[in-house]
Amino acid sequence: MLWIKALHIISLVTWFAGLFYLPRLFVYHADTRDEISHARFLVMERKLYIIMTIGAALTAIFGIWMLTAYAWTAYRDTGWLITKLVLVFGLITFHLYCWKLVREFRSGTASHSQVFYRWINEIPSLLLISIVLLAVVKPF
Ligand code: HEM
Repeated sequence: MLWIKALHIISLVTWFAGLFYLPRLFVYHADTRDEISHARFLVMERKLYIIMTIGAALTAIFGIWMLTAYAWTAYRDTGWLITKLVLVFGLITFHLYCWKLVREFRSGTASHSQVFYRWINEIPSLLLISIVLLAVVKPF
């Protein structure tokens, strides 16, 4: 099972690389005025979204694998596991919201300022800290 846990961690690092960098791309994209840069950002955002979605899917597969193999039986009476899963649900919601933002850029309807994209960049950081503390420290 330690192999599965290692693969879980490798996958979540891949996922978070995208969750951190995609809103950064939005910040730069929001300030872009020329067509060539706009087209380049669209390609970068789409490719990054594909990679981070693969990372998300693998994180979930290996997580659910551990859950069904031993973790649900071992930890179902604790608070940290259910809290972690609720926060993971929030993370997935943020992931899907990023797809909405990618599509807005693609259709030319993106209306947020770069300040907005800077702020949403903090959401995955807060979720990462909370989820890792819950998973490792298991405080309650
Ligand atoms: C569908 C999503 C997920 C599921 C079902 C899931 C489930 C699990 C399970 C069952 C374990 C083993 C717990 C143990 O044996 O102590 C685990 C470990 C871990 N998970 Fe997740 N997880 C998910 C997503 C995430 C995410 C998004 C993060 C990070 C932000 C994360 C971070 C960790 C870490 C760091 C460990 C190792 C904890 C340790 O062994 O000390 N997981 N996960």
